[in-house]
Amino acid sequence: MEHVLVTGGAGYIGSHACKALKAAGYVPVTYDNLSTGWRDAVRFGPFEQGDLLDRARLDAVFERYRPVTVMHFAALSQVGESMVQPGLYWRNNAAGSLTLIEAAVAAGCLDFVFSSTCATYGEHDNVVLDEATPQQPINAYGASKRAIEDMLNDFGAAHGLNAVIFRYFNVAGADPEAAVGEFHRPETHLIPVMLEAIAGTRPALTIFGTDYDTPDGTCIRDYVHVCDLVDAHVLGLEWLRAGKGSRVFNLGTGHGFSVREVMDAARCVTSHAVPHGEGPRRPGDCTKLVSGSTRAEAELGWKPHRSSLAQMITDAWRWHQTGHYEQ
Ligand code: UFG
Repeated sequence: MEHVLVTGGAGYIGSHACKALKAAGYVPVTYDNLSTGWRDAVRFGPFEQGDLLDRARLDAVFERYRPVTVMHFAALSQVGESMVQPGLYWRNNAAGSLTLIEAAVAAGCLDFVFSSTCATYGEHDNVVLDEATPQQPINAYGASKRAIEDMLNDFGAAHGLNAVIFRYFNVAGADPEAAVGEFHRPETHLIPVMLEAIAGTRPALTIFGTDYDTPDGTCIRDYVHVCDLVDAHVLGLEWLRAGKGSRVFNLGTGHGFSVREVMDAARCVTSHAVPHGEGPRRPGDCTKLVSGSTRAEAELGWKPHRSSLAQMITDAWRWHQTGHYEQ
């Protein structure tokens, strides 16, 4: 069977991708330094512990498995943290990805699927965010991801690297079988923070900013189920293997929900109101990020099946109650 190198395969999205790859007939090889991932989340193929910045280790892993494709999830991904420690983001995300891309090219592995983000777009007033929207990130996380997109373009021109770049909107939910799920320490993402507040395992949720220019004053995001998201990655891999070349795709549903709307949905799913207070804006947060593109549906044949807010919160709640990793 063919191998796919999955960086960050011990993390939230990477672990779900490994499950989907195995179901599609590939062997997912997880490469992860376990800085934010979990050994326990590597359940669908071999594990190779290593850092993106360790070129010798990467070369050995490429040599051992000869993967047909790289799926690159490994990254630091907290907007707030990136504003106070940008060096971490430039080193781990940008320099780490450069090392990985060079190793892939040297090994002759020229198909590359990359996790980018809607955070690369930044603030745009009343503009539909499609793949042609100018990228003007307002935080170091988004800037580091945009830089990696630029690298992939340059390595494509110079070395024939083919990259499918996915710009994620807000990823949520968990595997319906709760084999893997979202587990960050510390947790900062809205839906798991809300569920932990409901469960009483953390203090009340703080709404970061209630004075945004939106109908209820809170930020609006486009949430997409992690299982739908990783389905797109398998389609992206097949796109590359069919020789269709480099392409950028937004992955969102086109529907935006405010923080307060997400809290209401959590109350409906769990039958508990979210304990909460109100606080100042979080530096680096955009007012509204909603995908305005149907390219992934039209060209990849992607169809999100589980991305209603209620389904995502139901699956996240099930995982919260039944699943966990050894810490
Ligand atoms: N929020 C709160 N309180 C919290 C946590 C979040 O009000 O305790 C608000 C945020 O201010 C934001 C929304 O909920 O308005 C969503 O916040 P998340 O932290 O869950 O996610 P982000 O919107 O910051 O997502 C960004 C990028 C994604 C990227 C993600 C990774 O837009 O592309 O960071 O952390 F994947």
